[in-house]
Amino acid sequence: MRIIKLLLLLFVIQTQAQQGGMWIPSLLKGMNEKEMKSLGMKISAEDIYSVNHSSLKDAVPQFDGGCTAEMISDKGLLLTNHHCGFDAIQTHSTVEHDYLQDGFWAYKMEDELPNKDMEVMFVVRIEDVTAKVLDGVLNLATETEKQKKIQENISALNNSSPKEPWQENKIRTFFDGNQYLLFVTETYKDIRLVGAPPSAIGKFGNDTDNWVWPRHTGDFSLFRIYADKDNKPAVFSTSNVPYKPKHFFPISISGLKENDFTMVLGYPGRTQEYLPAVAVNQIIETLNPAKIEIRDAALKVQDRFMRKNQAIKIQYASKYASVANYWKKWMGESKGLKKANAVAAKQKFEKAFQEKVINAGKQTEYGNLLADFEKNYTEIKDFALARDYFIEVVLRNTETLLVGYKLYQLEQILKNKGEQAFTDRKKNLIEGIGDFYKDYNAEVDKNVFEQLIDLYAKKSPKQFLPSLLNNLDATKLTNDIFLNSKLTSLSGYKELLDGDSKTVINKINSDIGYQLIKSLSDIYTTDVAPKYDELNLKNSALQRTYMKAILELSSKADRVFPDANSTLRVTYGKIKGYKPNDAVYYEPFTTLDGVMEKYIPGDYEFDVPKKLIDLYTTKDYGSYGVKGTMPVCFIATNHTTGGNSGSPALDAKGNLIGLNFDRVWEGTMSDIYYDPKICRNIMVDIRYVLFIIDKYANAKNLINELFIVGQKK
Ligand code: ARG
Ligand code: ASP
Repeated sequence: MRIIKLLLLLFVIQTQAQQGGMWIPSLLKGMNEKEMKSLGMKISAEDIYSVNHSSLKDAVPQFDGGCTAEMISDKGLLLTNHHCGFDAIQTHSTVEHDYLQDGFWAYKMEDELPNKDMEVMFVVRIEDVTAKVLDGVLNLATETEKQKKIQENISALNNSSPKEPWQENKIRTFFDGNQYLLFVTETYKDIRLVGAPPSAIGKFGNDTDNWVWPRHTGDFSLFRIYADKDNKPAVFSTSNVPYKPKHFFPISISGLKENDFTMVLGYPGRTQEYLPAVAVNQIIETLNPAKIEIRDAALKVQDRFMRKNQAIKIQYASKYASVANYWKKWMGESKGLKKANAVAAKQKFEKAFQEKVINAGKQTEYGNLLADFEKNYTEIKDFALARDYFIEVVLRNTETLLVGYKLYQLEQILKNKGEQAFTDRKKNLIEGIGDFYKDYNAEVDKNVFEQLIDLYAKKSPKQFLPSLLNNLDATKLTNDIFLNSKLTSLSGYKELLDGDSKTVINKINSDIGYQLIKSLSDIYTTDVAPKYDELNLKNSALQRTYMKAILELSSKADRVFPDANSTLRVTYGKIKGYKPNDAVYYEPFTTLDGVMEKYIPGDYEFDVPKKLIDLYTTKDYGSYGVKGTMPVCFIATNHTTGGNSGSPALDAKGNLIGLNFDRVWEGTMSDIYYDPKICRNIMVDIRYVLFIIDKYANAKNLINELFIVGQKK
């Protein structure tokens, strides 16, 4: 009997442990340590996060705001993704030294390249300040008053909480306003580029393979943090020295097998795991399809031009990649949510929730939550859709409308803030606008405009359409605007901005392009945004109460974790393949053989550098290969999201075994609904990284800095 119970318990722990979750490093001891150990972890929660001695978290900074990185030497050497270092690599590239194309390697520290404005942030310690933030808030009458008081408490705490002069205090909310944590952080500002493989390795597979498994991308780049002589943050200076981290990761080349424990530390950006069914349904049925359709149309036009014309390709490559990334993600997300029956699963959860509320006698407090959500989401639908059309068409995908919108803001500034503010903004605009037009092609955007304005007129909610778009002849309007508007060239734009405020306002208001933007923006700011904000605030308040109730009515076994909010988290799981479709099974490891299978000579996505082909042919893998093959990528059940790119993947002992860079297509809905059967994160195997640094780039100087452990198997 006891054994059966034990087995049962083990089974429960095992299955639950595959459920995902992004956990707070300072709270692992009580929440997760046991489960992590049952999955195979060999270190303690205190080894991961400690205030008293160095711990793993000291080796995991946030990289340049949006990604994660890890320290891999005692001389400040840092590893992150190629796509996270992409802008920096691009900025240093010229026609003579195209580091994107050819890669870059610093064989001496003097050759490393400084990066303006790049930052790397470490978490020193985490403290719960919930009581202090909510002090005096709960008995305030309105949501607006509550939010104001919370903001006051937060700024007071930021100023008064103890920290060293070079550190910062940052307070973030967890569980939608039910918990507040203070992060004491240190931000380093002298960060230099050390190494990057050619894009044919670092971005191998490009958009076609993006969000897709099986994957064969060596998505990594290397940087070095420099500090002042006291190891403190300092702006760039030639007298700075390599930063000595409190911890750096030993690198294991032993390799893991399916079902082995892994964990990932990093800074996941945003998830919405506790949305009610009605909201998820709205994303699947209404919002995602609209956004996908808009981007689909814009991307098709751009792609057509990019394929014909190399200059346009250079102008649009980076914009295209960034628009395409979430276009593809939303498609995978909608598909996954439907396939996993996420709405039905949420409804089931809500039914059980309702019962728990009744059983706990909490009907007055929580009994109406779900009905209120239902009402609110029904009411917000058209406003949310109109908002998405405005954002996607005007602010994101039609460049002419976007530059026009900047003039709309300028006119508003004059109205609301006066002459001086107008002059300052105008000066800024003139200075910055050259960069915009450098990558703008009126012919491309004309074709995008015609498609998107037609979609806007036909598909966005009718009640928010300006009269200009009623019974629209899209082709005629497009021709009119692209023939007559001054917004379609840098010289025209500058001409519009020439003169005093009165002249400028007169000129722009007689421009036909501007007239369209103004009518779209006026309706948006008066009829859409205020009501959307009001309903959205209501939804946030509801979500906060819903979260409070979920926390109160759940047990530890329910594994309630806070949504991602760009703060440091730990996620863990196992290396595991998955079954994307009937009769198909994906194994969890890929190798260099797969790179060669995908190889298309001269192709912009699937070309392979000659040197890599040579190493493949001679099987010259050094100590990184396994039985004549070279590992490239692997997947596991770690629950990650955007922002986790560059995150260290660790083995049971806390050794570095890879770095995270993506998720699998069938599981991209994990931001809303984590399904352990098919949600997987994608990592590049550290042995492939070392192989490229060592054998491909011959950068022995870097290999010698590392602490490599483990034996090849
Ligand atoms: N999908 C990954 C992420 O969301 C990688 C994006 C970069 N790669 C690309 N081909 N665009 O960031
Ligand atoms: N590729 C993402 C990133 O850049 C990671 C993800 O969304 O899985 O952070």
